[in-house]
Amino acid sequence: MEILAIKKLATHYIVNKLIVVAVNHVDLLVKERQIVGIVGESGSGKSTIANSILRILPETGKLVSGSVMFKGANLMDLKEREMQHDIRGNEISMIFQDPMVSLNPVFTVGTQIVDVMKLHQACSTREAKAMAIALFKKVGISDPESRFYNYPHELSGGMIQRVVIAMAMSCQPSLIIADEPTTALDVTIQNQILNEFENLVREMGVSVVWISHDLGIIRRISDYVYVMYAGRILEEGSVESVFQHPLHPYTQGLLEANPIYHEPKSTIPTIRGELSEMTLEGCSFYPRCQNSNKVCSTEDIALAKVAEDHFVRCKQLAINSS
Ligand SMILES: Nc1ncnc2c1ncn2[C@@H]1O[C@H](COP(=O)(O)OP(=O)(O)OP(=O)(O)O)[C@@H](O)[C@H]1O
Ligand SMILES: [Mg+2]
Repeated sequence: MEILAIKKLATHYIVNKLIVVAVNHVDLLVKERQIVGIVGESGSGKSTIANSILRILPETGKLVSGSVMFKGANLMDLKEREMQHDIRGNEISMIFQDPMVSLNPVFTVGTQIVDVMKLHQACSTREAKAMAIALFKKVGISDPESRFYNYPHELSGGMIQRVVIAMAMSCQPSLIIADEPTTALDVTIQNQILNEFENLVREMGVSVVWISHDLGIIRRISDYVYVMYAGRILEEGSVESVFQHPLHPYTQGLLEANPIYHEPKSTIPTIRGELSEMTLEGCSFYPRCQNSNKVCSTEDIALAKVAEDHFVRCKQLAINSS
């Protein structure tokens, strides 16, 4: 059963009358209790998808078309008041890369999580405090009773990100969107937080959209993955299928460029060119693709099913397999 179904989402930014096509007709599904990963280079449109779902785009951002069905309602049709009261931080929580987006520096973390809980659940301050301390424990905060009285600046980067995760969980959401929340942390802390987060969401039965440019994290945490480039999904499928049999040259390039798949001190290949070479005609990746030929520059192609739970958008693969 799906909890989120995005169909043909298109989001643009309009800057000095120029249009940036950040999300270009994206379809994306999240099933109940599933952790869905979105991976792609910087600028591929990952955060724009997240911000489009919650309708928190900046002034320059425009939702151009598409639908975002969440538990049977199209979020695009809801009034701003309904988004604010019923959806954001209630049904859908967001965890940002910068924890200070979610925290106020002048209040203790305990006050802030208790306020969130009281807003979304009918509970007393005493009950909220007990629940908050229990949640702090679950996300790996040591000595949670004293951390509760700390101000954000008194906590380390890892601790503060744990507080933000606890806050996101505190309203018992059905869906959590995590936009690179562990990217700024060192690998050891990142691993601990990933473990704690995964245990908690599996225990609570929450669905998750996890955004990252880090394939290792996506492979580790997700059940299903979307590979994004220049606003489009180029490949998607179960994590086993996409990581064991990557088919799109872009996915293959991302995997080859990941240091974890190479010997220490060996030369790591890169994908030639840059994302700025994006094009709206033909395949968005063709200017950088090793396998492209003329037809890729003019003809677009839909995502094609290549196996159960595995889809790819590549003209050359389609030609070769026909
Ligand atoms: N506020 C904005 N105004 C104009 N263009 C924007 C704005 N935010 C993003 N963009 C552009 O939209 C495209 C998608 O950006 P987005 O931030 O969604 O990518 P991303 O995949 O999240 O990248 P990153 O990994 O760096 O976070 C990029 O071309 C980016 O330059
Ligand atoms: Mg981003």
